[in-house]
Amino acid sequence: MDKKLEMLEKLTGIQSSRKNYYVELTHLVHEMQRKNKQLEVLNQLTRIHVNMSWEEVTEYIAVQLIPVISFKLLVLTLVDRSSLSFYIAPMEMPGGTTWSMHRSWNMDDKLSVKRLNQLLEREFPDYDRASVLLRSHSDKAIGFLTMLSHHSYPKEEGQFFRSVADYAGVAIENILLYKDVCEKVKIEAQLIQSAKLAAIGEMAAGVAHELNSPLTAILGNTQLLLRETVNERSSRMLQDVYQCGVRSKRIIQNLLTFSRQDEYRFEEIDVDRLIDDVCSLIGYQLKVSGVMVEISKNPKLPPLKGSRQQIEQVLINLLLNARDALQDKENALIQIITDVLFMEGKSYITLTVHDNGSGIKEEDMGKIFHPFFTTKENLKGTGLGLSVSLGIIESHHGQIKVESKEQEYTQFTIMLPISSEEIKQ
Ligand SMILES: Nc1ncnc2c1ncn2[C@@H]1O[C@H](COP(=O)(O)OP(=O)(O)OP(=O)(O)O)[C@@H](O)[C@H]1O
Ligand SMILES: [Mg+2]
Repeated sequence: MDKKLEMLEKLTGIQSSRKNYYVELTHLVHEMQRKNKQLEVLNQLTRIHVNMSWEEVTEYIAVQLIPVISFKLLVLTLVDRSSLSFYIAPMEMPGGTTWSMHRSWNMDDKLSVKRLNQLLEREFPDYDRASVLLRSHSDKAIGFLTMLSHHSYPKEEGQFFRSVADYAGVAIENILLYKDVCEKVKIEAQLIQSAKLAAIGEMAAGVAHELNSPLTAILGNTQLLLRETVNERSSRMLQDVYQCGVRSKRIIQNLLTFSRQDEYRFEEIDVDRLIDDVCSLIGYQLKVSGVMVEISKNPKLPPLKGSRQQIEQVLINLLLNARDALQDKENALIQIITDVLFMEGKSYITLTVHDNGSGIKEEDMGKIFHPFFTTKENLKGTGLGLSVSLGIIESHHGQIKVESKEQEYTQFTIMLPISSEEIKQ
């Protein structure tokens, strides 16, 4: 009887269709679970934050994908005109961190998935590649997402990977927009800052201009009084007034030159006389600071074509810097040396100021010519001296060289071309 029933079931297929039904159901459940997991991944991709770095974005996508697709490396490629940036997240590699590489490409060569795969094949020859294009919502290609593995991918995974690209594409476009806006805000802030600086510069130059004339009167009258005064105490006080006036005039002069509002004319300069004049102007300041000044002149120095007032300004800036570096120094000595130098087919007059003072720190060497760079405390320095001096020497087609050793010495050498044709250029 049992055998009969079994035979009948076999013949009618009832048993086998029931089996098929279970197999199909299990398969369906698996498929649903897989789809659910995929949906969960897509949902996670909407959580990519706009201020994540590209490395973080790549790693985040890779971490989300790994439970549903197996791969060795995930590559996010970003296209920016003629350059490609690749961000590579290694999976299944314990301790592997995301890294990046950058390549340029010929803009005539249209970038497609095929072309990208060729590029990646060159970089990663041992892997199989599956790439999808990332598009902005205006359908512009913004990059690619590539999985590298040792096997090829079935078709259904390709479909899912395209959905991943859609979601990731939106997040990546948002990040690009965010970066763009941040950059614009930054540029706007810089513009406001430079407009403010320009306004302050103009104001400072205006004030400097206004102060110039009364200062000239103060200096001139003090000099007249100094000549007439016999009383030693009054004479010392007047000398102080005069030196403070000279200091103020130097600051004003530097400000005017910095904002290019000073007037000057080129003339023939006798450098030896210029040194003597500068020394008589600030010699007293140097003397009261306990600094010795030694001058060694080349007797065959030819005349120089340039702005006398400006070259004086440079020499004063260098001498006062040397004096400041010599504070509290025993045997403080400044040497001023003039010479002629022939270099690379050109003749130069060189004017060197050497001091045995504090020297310049190596890390400051690259900054000393920057406007407003100063190491002097309590508003003792404006940080304009060297920057203004460099501007002046360059406008004379010359150069400034500096050598220094901390705690030993500093030497500034100004090189000015002799031939008048050079200066007129
Ligand atoms: N002879 C020197 N010895 C040691 N340091 C120097 C010397 N000359 C310049 N420096 C360094 O370079 C910095 C910039 O010099 P700069 O003349 O431009 O500005 P400042 O002297 O600080 O201020 P300012 O000249 O406007 O009064 C100085 O603060 C100092 O640190
Ligand atoms: Mg200075």
